[in-house]
Amino acid sequence: MLSDEAKKEIETELRQYEQKQAGSVEALKIVQRRHGWVSDQHLRDVAEMLEMSLEELDGVATFYNLIFRRPVGRHAILLCDSVSCWIMGYDRLYQHLQNRLGIGLGETSKDNRFTLLPTCCLGDCNHAPVMMVDEDLHRDLDPEKVDEILGRYQ
Ligand code: FES
Repeated sequence: MLSDEAKKEIETELRQYEQKQAGSVEALKIVQRRHGWVSDQHLRDVAEMLEMSLEELDGVATFYNLIFRRPVGRHAILLCDSVSCWIMGYDRLYQHLQNRLGIGLGETSKDNRFTLLPTCCLGDCNHAPVMMVDEDLHRDLDPEKVDEILGRYQ
């Protein structure tokens, strides 16, 4: 169930739009920020607020890869696996993250600190390989830089 705070924030956000549906991505982001992820119940609640069908809103949620439809750890690592990053060292980084965190793609570390997810191009191919941690983009990566970056997220 949506928290009262999330509902209020969504209602405020929706005032900016002529059509409530136009605020669907922002509404889902609010839910995620408040609850960590978007459950089926959250989706039903938001669909009702936006006067959308559940299927329509689920389509938005699954299209937008920064909306999590399953629980994630405290920090989500999105590792770019598109062509430039793949050429520039994706495998090496993925191996390193697997060893360091003890998890594969789609998994969450035992301490619930990180969830590791694949993502398509993050739009910064000139600085491949690239990953995001939460909302932060990290580029020109190598294993040493990854270690330093992970240390910033507790
Ligand atoms: S291919 Fe990774 S940022 Fe574009």
